[in-house]
Amino acid sequence: SSAPLRVLVTGAAGQIGYAVVLQIAKGDVFGNDQPIVLVLLDIPPLAAALEGVKLELQDCALPTLHGVEAVTDEAAGFKDIDYAFLIGAMPRKEGMERKDLLAANVRIFKSQGQALANHSKPTVKVLVVGNPANTNALVAAKYAAGKIPEQNFSAMTRLDHNRAAAQIALKVGVPVGNVKNVTIWGNHSSTQFPDASHAKVVKDGNEIDAISAINDNSWVQGDFISTVQKRGGVIIEKRKLSSAMSAAKAACDHMRDWHFGTPSGQHVSMAIVSDGSYGVPKGLVYSFPVTVDGSSKQWKIVQGLKIDDFAQSKLNATTKELEEERDDALAACEESKQ
Ligand code: NAI
Repeated sequence: SSAPLRVLVTGAAGQIGYAVVLQIAKGDVFGNDQPIVLVLLDIPPLAAALEGVKLELQDCALPTLHGVEAVTDEAAGFKDIDYAFLIGAMPRKEGMERKDLLAANVRIFKSQGQALANHSKPTVKVLVVGNPANTNALVAAKYAAGKIPEQNFSAMTRLDHNRAAAQIALKVGVPVGNVKNVTIWGNHSSTQFPDASHAKVVKDGNEIDAISAINDNSWVQGDFISTVQKRGGVIIEKRKLSSAMSAAKAACDHMRDWHFGTPSGQHVSMAIVSDGSYGVPKGLVYSFPVTVDGSSKQWKIVQGLKIDDFAQSKLNATTKELEEERDDALAACEESKQ
């Protein structure tokens, strides 16, 4: 076994944090023979709760967990980090405008981008879960520029990806493991475009296009998309709390595929800094279909997927929203200089 990886979880006293730390600590992300040190970061008022999570992790008696550090100071939290799960964010409070929420989060992710640049390893891989995830990742990447390549920043659309695969599996009547290559395009928001048109399904032992297995185009262009887009809201309505178990699992899936690579012939959805592929403006943090090479740990956007007029209009709508978020975030960055 190798030297421990230092893995940071921010918002570790929160509900996703509580669900994610065990999965990371027991080897679901980096493997059963990779020692890790978990660094838990939250804000000072939650220091005691965070300490409680640390004590429970010790009590899990996990062979892969070589240390747990609970901190409320960014400089200590980001020191020598290999993988960062940025989950902590400012939640929307009653009466808060979207712009106020964005400004509060810009402050957090500007500061964490700088902390990554100043304290983490230059090879650090960053996953932003805290909302608005895509734009928070854009801000963190901007303030780490020069030290950490923008390719090392990502935002989570894997939960949406998993939801899309699950919906197709339920519709076709196969286990979810028989569904691959669904795609989430764009923003982790209600403008995202869950796309089944490149997906494959194994049915009765044969791999076929998901579109033929589903055989219901109005569902593919209607209920399928809206169910995935609105799933987060439905979970809140039922549970009176937002998705945490499934969000934590998705965060682990995202990082495991980044660390080990995607299986051959399969792509996953990751929001990453656009290089202009599919006409998406460069620099936007946009969810694309990607493959990852496990040895270089570099992702590549899957090229050449056919985008019809319906899909193009969906891609454009989520692009427009992300451009607005980016412009508001950059304006808030300017204001926070004063
Ligand atoms: P939560 O409110 O239970 O926990 C958030 C934690 O972050 C709290 O303990 C809070 O103190 C902490 N925090 C706030 N500011 C911080 C800072 N500057 N540094 C470190 N910690 C900080 O929320 P929950 O349910 O765990 O969700 C976390 C975030 O994930 C939310 O923004 C939520 O909207 C987002 N989310 C994103 C999903 C995605 O698919 N991208 C899916 C589900 C949730």
